[in-house]
Amino acid sequence: KVVKVRVPATTANLGPGFDTFGLALTLYNEFEVEEEDGVYIESYPKNEFIENPENNLFIKVIKYLCEAEGKTFHGARLKQTVNIPVARGLGSSATAIVAGILTGFAVHKKPLTDEEFFKVAYLFEPHPDNLLPAWKGGFITALKTEDKTYYSKMDFPKEIKAVVVIPDFELSTEKARLVLPSQVPLKDAIFNLQRSALFIRALEERRYDLLKVVMEDRLHQPYRKNLIPNFDKVIQSAYENGALGACLSGAGSTILALATENFDKIGLSMVEAFKEVSINAEYKVLEVDT
Ligand code: HSE
Repeated sequence: KVVKVRVPATTANLGPGFDTFGLALTLYNEFEVEEEDGVYIESYPKNEFIENPENNLFIKVIKYLCEAEGKTFHGARLKQTVNIPVARGLGSSATAIVAGILTGFAVHKKPLTDEEFFKVAYLFEPHPDNLLPAWKGGFITALKTEDKTYYSKMDFPKEIKAVVVIPDFELSTEKARLVLPSQVPLKDAIFNLQRSALFIRALEERRYDLLKVVMEDRLHQPYRKNLIPNFDKVIQSAYENGALGACLSGAGSTILALATENFDKIGLSMVEAFKEVSINAEYKVLEVDT
């Protein structure tokens, strides 16, 4: 039996909502899998030789779920279409985890509850702000306690598109978290609290003029921007060319601009700003996956 799932890219944080906000975008990874003796992976668009297919995250998740059912995992043949670049802050690993969970639960004919989802997903990655929009689509606000994750999905204005500017260097989330301080000044916490609360209202009331100020952040970007050459200039170029808001996508290295027009102009100017520091980047104009 062949199981096929498609999971969207996600952009976490959206500026002030560090570890809280996540948005699904119309760029997808696809996973098509069937039972097989041994593990085989075909990867598109470019089919590179994969040395240790057992280390593939999707395979690890389905193997885990198979063994959790008390069965022996004999293997699988996976055809994956990878459209989301890895280690760029676009939730590529969340797609593999979510796809693995959806596949495993479909194969074992078990209903997937929130509790079951998080129990498995958090074994592989601790970020609900990527996992949830990858699973549910749309714009998600998430809150994770020791034993439970609470969340809400909210309508995101359809006329807003995301211009994602993807530089040609990878940045692991682990590395991008290591540069963060363990404590922040109270005034910086207030700075983000005010902005993240008003960000939600700006979306609900379609007050797009607020997006620039509410997408500022003092909890992660000031530290992470040292890992992204010309970060300030790329953000500035987005605003100069008509972006409503701009921020680091997840832990980076992608930079995201939100806009209702001038998408190509914004994307090109941001690519140009990366070029000033000899970094090649490409941009994509994406919609919100609902
Ligand atoms: N909120 C997380 C971070 C997302 O910014 O580190 C990781 O993908």
